[in-house]
Amino acid sequence: MKQRIKTRFTEFFNVSHPIMLAPMDQISGGNLAAAVSRAGGLGMIGGGYGNREWLKTVFSETHDESVGVGFITWSLMRQPELVDFSLDQKPVAFMVSFGDSEIPVAAAKARNIPTIWQIQTLDMAKQALDAGVDVLVVQGQEAGGHGMSRGLISLLPAVRDLAGKDQIIVAAGGIADGRGLAGALSLGADGVMPGTRFWASKEANGSDAAKAQLVKARGDDTLRSKVFDIARGVDWPWHFTGRVVANQFSNQWHNNIDELQRDVETEQQRYLTSQMDDFNIRVVIGGECLDNIHSIDSAETIINNMVDEAANILERMVNYLVP
Ligand SMILES: Cc1cc2nc3c(=O)[nH]c(=O)nc-3n(C[C@H](O)[C@H](O)[C@H](O)COP(=O)(O)O)c2cc1C
Repeated sequence: MKQRIKTRFTEFFNVSHPIMLAPMDQISGGNLAAAVSRAGGLGMIGGGYGNREWLKTVFSETHDESVGVGFITWSLMRQPELVDFSLDQKPVAFMVSFGDSEIPVAAAKARNIPTIWQIQTLDMAKQALDAGVDVLVVQGQEAGGHGMSRGLISLLPAVRDLAGKDQIIVAAGGIADGRGLAGALSLGADGVMPGTRFWASKEANGSDAAKAQLVKARGDDTLRSKVFDIARGVDWPWHFTGRVVANQFSNQWHNNIDELQRDVETEQQRYLTSQMDDFNIRVVIGGECLDNIHSIDSAETIINNMVDEAANILERMVNYLVP
């Protein structure tokens, strides 16, 4: 589809549309990342917690399409050799989230690879700016997956004021269609980074049964919780919670975290031995924008619809002005 919206983001990455794929652990594999790039966005591989074999596989799946890669910093830095390994794959962008990221950002900058840092508070934005990051992703609490408690609608303009007019800023959290894209541009973003919307795509890794849960669930069904990190035995820093679709397991433990931790071995065993498609127990990660997702579509369809709808809204907005 032809370009309809030009921003600092599209110019900087030389892409047609101001949309990047969230680097979702396990979900954003090579097929999805390549499909987003082919459709004119910025495809990102989910490097997740860091796993060399997974990285090899997903980079080879892209068949040399230009893609970036993103990691969960606190986990990546437990195996710092993966920074150089992933930079050797020549990603078009290197993204970090969740933790002090000065070291991997400096490594990418030394190789002239554009850097992206996802933040959840103003203090984190300042830290990322001090590290000289090229692109700030501002994540609101609406987001699927890990994050914090600030809503995007006030955090995004505050980060714009802090960062100044020349900084490239991308909005994340709650954006599933062109209304979200147009709104984010109005609030000061140069682009958007949907996660949940691309998880509900044909090219995303993951079972059809899990994707069907995404179409069925509503934003009201989601909550931010520690339950599934404890159940999966992943030691996330305590201030990050994960937004997920609530189920029987989270209903049982969300308000009983102390008790869950007292009986942690039994409950971890119960979780890890459950069937993958037993969604009464197994987590389905998704954000508040599930309200606005009604079908599993190709990445190209998602991007084209989002851009068309946003461009049409921006054209119509002029009608609000009193001549
Ligand atoms: C299934 C899923 C997995 C995610 N995994 C990661 C991850 O591994 N690393 C990361 O930086 N963010 C991850 N995120 C968060 C995204 O980067 C992004 O902030 C979020 O998806 C944006 O909100 P949205 O889901 O409402 O679009 C994940 C999100 C989802 C939905």
